[in-house]
Amino acid sequence: MIRRILTDGIDAFDLTRIDVFRARGGYEALGKALKTMTPEEVFNEVKASNLRGRGGAGFPTGLKWSTLPGDGRPRYLLINGDESEPGSFSGRMLIEKNPHMVVEGILLAAYACQMAASFVYLRGEFYEGAETLAAAVEQARAAGLIGQNILGTGFSQEIVVHRGGGAYICGEETAIMESLEGRRGHPRVKPPFPTAAGVYGMPTVINNVETIANVGPIILNGAKWFAAIGPEKSPGTKICSVSGRVARPGNYEIEMGTPMRELIEEHAGGLLPGHTLKMILPAGASSACVLPKNLDVSLDFDSMGAIRSMLGSAGMLVCDERDCPVHVAYLGARFYHHESCGKCTPCREGTGWTERVLYRMEHGQGRPGDTTLVEDLVRGIGGRKCLCLLGDFSVTYLQSALGAFRDEFVAHEQGGPCPVSAALEVAVR
Ligand SMILES: Cc1cc2nc3c(=O)[nH]c(=O)nc-3n(C[C@H](O)[C@H](O)[C@H](O)COP(=O)(O)O)c2cc1C
Ligand code: SF4
Repeated sequence: MIRRILTDGIDAFDLTRIDVFRARGGYEALGKALKTMTPEEVFNEVKASNLRGRGGAGFPTGLKWSTLPGDGRPRYLLINGDESEPGSFSGRMLIEKNPHMVVEGILLAAYACQMAASFVYLRGEFYEGAETLAAAVEQARAAGLIGQNILGTGFSQEIVVHRGGGAYICGEETAIMESLEGRRGHPRVKPPFPTAAGVYGMPTVINNVETIANVGPIILNGAKWFAAIGPEKSPGTKICSVSGRVARPGNYEIEMGTPMRELIEEHAGGLLPGHTLKMILPAGASSACVLPKNLDVSLDFDSMGAIRSMLGSAGMLVCDERDCPVHVAYLGARFYHHESCGKCTPCREGTGWTERVLYRMEHGQGRPGDTTLVEDLVRGIGGRKCLCLLGDFSVTYLQSALGAFRDEFVAHEQGGPCPVSAALEVAVR
């Protein structure tokens, strides 16, 4: 079911204007929190809402905030707007079309956790988004909502908008801090986790753009209201970015628990006429594929995990019978090889090796035993052998495709043109 909370009015109104946003109830949650609630009350409300992080792992937001140490050191909030997962574009839409909702969420989180300052790290390519968000920050500052003594309550907060260098790894929670501090975006060893030692060595909460945008509606309407939307353990809505072989690609905000079939067949307009579903990569290139037999799965963190896939950032790549699973694997391998930061041997060497083998399989130079070789590579890279999850991400789809479409990989060992493309050519003739 479509449920517009974060995207309400996004197409009909210019919500980049603070007057328009305020006329529709924007910044009321901030006023309510600062004037009638203590920071602890705001914190408890978010915790009670059961909000879970929208950046991929679905980690409970309140629980993350509660791990901040109370040792008097300055605390920082870092909003992750890197969004470099192929197929994910929900955060970009929020930043470009509803930036004040993000700003309001940041101010509320900063109040709840008593942050010294807040940073928004945007993907390097989000040039327009960075300008729009920076303009929203300035509008809010002019309205007395950012800076010193906000709304005369004694609460002060600065928001710094920072554009990254344009690398997928900069979305990883420790690499993002390295990059923000001006170094190359390489992951740090954990522990310490960011809430213990984050930006400039200080306790830091890292939250995704969509996660933080939910905080305003939660404070305005109450934790009970939010917790009652969708499944008990995965409440709220999720903006799903649907792309690929569907009639109406785009962002759709659905109530958690909505069947994937409804999203694809009703809201995204279904597959193109005459074509059949092959698979869906539900959380971008780094997720295990969902097969047509599982299309009725509920879109929430736990149900997606139960079918051995994930909701993640819900960047849904839809493939039909024209899409060769080996070709999809090759494109993914090329991406991960390019994006590997090179710190760990399995990821640095393995992604390159995987790309080379899949390239030759997909380009008519496959050799007997290549499928087994790729399976060995999957075992060699995956299974938490690397410093960060990029290594595992690079083989997640591949592993699932080898399980579901092994015959098609083996068919590519014979050399000659890709059998799927060749069959299509015959069909077209
Ligand atoms: C390689 C890699 C890339 C990631 N990219 C992003 C990203 O672009 N945006 C994001 O919010 N989280 C990304 N994450 C997850 C973050 O590390 C982190 O878990 C998230 O920002 C936490 O926010 P949340 O609790 O609100 O979900 C990535 C993780 C990895 C391993
Ligand atoms: S897993 Fe890959 S991206 Fe992550 S730290 Fe190791 S080499 Fe870098």
